[in-house]
Amino acid sequence: MSLADRDRKVLWHPYTQMQTAGAPLEIVRGEGVWLYTEDGRRIMDGVSSWWVNIHGHSHPKLNDALAAQARELEHVIFAGCTHRPAVELAERLLAVLPPGLARVFYSDNGSTAVEAALKMALQYWSNLGGKRTRFLSLAGGYHGDTAGAMSVSAPSVFNAAFEPMMFPVEQFRDLEELEALLRDDTAAVLIEPMLQGAGGMVMWPAEFVRGVRELCDRHGTLLIADEVLTGFGRTGKMFACEHAGITPDIICLSKGLTAGYMPLGATVTTQAVYEAFLSNDRSKTFFHGHSYTANPLACAVGVASLKLFAEEPVLENVARIEGQMRAGLNGRVMGGVGVVELEGAGYLDNVGPRLAAEFLKRGLLLRPLGNVVYFMPPYCITETETEWALAQIREVINSLP
Ligand SMILES: Cc1ncc(COP(=O)(O)O)c(C=O)c1O
Repeated sequence: MSLADRDRKVLWHPYTQMQTAGAPLEIVRGEGVWLYTEDGRRIMDGVSSWWVNIHGHSHPKLNDALAAQARELEHVIFAGCTHRPAVELAERLLAVLPPGLARVFYSDNGSTAVEAALKMALQYWSNLGGKRTRFLSLAGGYHGDTAGAMSVSAPSVFNAAFEPMMFPVEQFRDLEELEALLRDDTAAVLIEPMLQGAGGMVMWPAEFVRGVRELCDRHGTLLIADEVLTGFGRTGKMFACEHAGITPDIICLSKGLTAGYMPLGATVTTQAVYEAFLSNDRSKTFFHGHSYTANPLACAVGVASLKLFAEEPVLENVARIEGQMRAGLNGRVMGGVGVVELEGAGYLDNVGPRLAAEFLKRGLLLRPLGNVVYFMPPYCITETETEWALAQIREVINSLP
C-alpha cells in the first residue's frame, strides 16, 4: 500500500476537505528550495512550507546545530530551569529586534505567541489595577486558530463555525476608524504590520503602521505587532516594524524563528510591561506556559538561523528576489512575497485549487488563497530558479480563459 493510501486510513489533514482532496504528495526529502517525492519528482516549495522556511530545506548548518543539540539536551521543563539555547536565542533576538523590546516569553507556535500576547496585555492592565479589557484589531487580519487568536482575526470561513467560543473584538479599516474606536478601556490594538498574510496578502504603507503607533501612544494603550509571518526578513527588513521605524509594546514571532525546522513561538515585550508582573503578590505572576516552552532543539536551530543572517547575505537575497518579482510579476510585491490577485470570489473560489493543480504539474508547489496567487519561496532560491518560477506563474495565469 502506498504512503498516501496508508495516510488516508489514519490521518486528518489541516485545512483539508478530506472527502474531495486529492492524494497528498509523498515527500521523502528536501534540499534548498526543492522537495522530492516518493515517485521521483522534484517540486519547488513556492510557499516556504506554510511560510516557515527561510534558508532552504535540510540546510547543513541548521542540521548540524539540531543534531549537536539533540546529543546534549533534547528538552527540559522551562519553569525553574534554563538552558544555553534559550538564553542565547533571547540575547540574539533582542539584539536584532526593534529597540526597546527587552523580555522574551517562549511558546510553541504562532497562535500561542498571539494568545500569550493577548493574555499578557490583559493581565498587564489588571496588575496595574486598571480596567482596560477591550481589544481592537485591523480588519482582514489572520492571527491563528486558538480561541483568542480567532477572536482578533477577521470573521471568515476559517472561524465561522467557532463563533460561540470567540470573544467580541472591534475591527478598524483605517486610522480614522481606529481613532473613533479607541477608548480608555482599550487593552491593546493588534495588527499584522505592513503585510496581512492569510487575509489575502494585503500590503499597507509604513505611514499607516506609524499612525497606529501614534494613536496607541496618544490613547495610552498597548500595540501588539503580529510578525509571525513578516518576521525574519520576509518583507525585506528583518522585521516589518522597521519599515515604519516603530517599536510595538509586544511582538509575536514564530514561523521563521527556527527557519522552518521546529515549532517555536516567542512573545517579546518591553521592560515596562514585564515590570507590571513583578510583585510579592503571587497572583500577579504571568500564569501561562506550555510543556514545550523554549524547547532546546528549537532554540538551538533558532540561534543557528540568526547566525546565518549575520554571516551570509540573507537579506540581500531577499532584495534580489524582490527585484526579480517586481520585474517579472504583474502584481504587488513586498520583500520576498509576490502576489497576483485574480478576479474571483475570495478564499473558497475554485480558481485556487485549479491553479494549484496546474502549478504542481509543472513542478511548482503553490497554494493560492482562493483568487489570490502568491509566491513566497525560501530566501536561498537562486536567480535562475526564481526566473523559472515566475515564468510558470505568468504562463499558468495567462492561460486562464
Ligand atoms: C500573521 C500570523 N499570525 C499567526 C499565525 C498562526 O501561526 P501558527 O499557524 O503557527 O499557529 C499565522 C499563521 O499563518 C500568521 O500568518
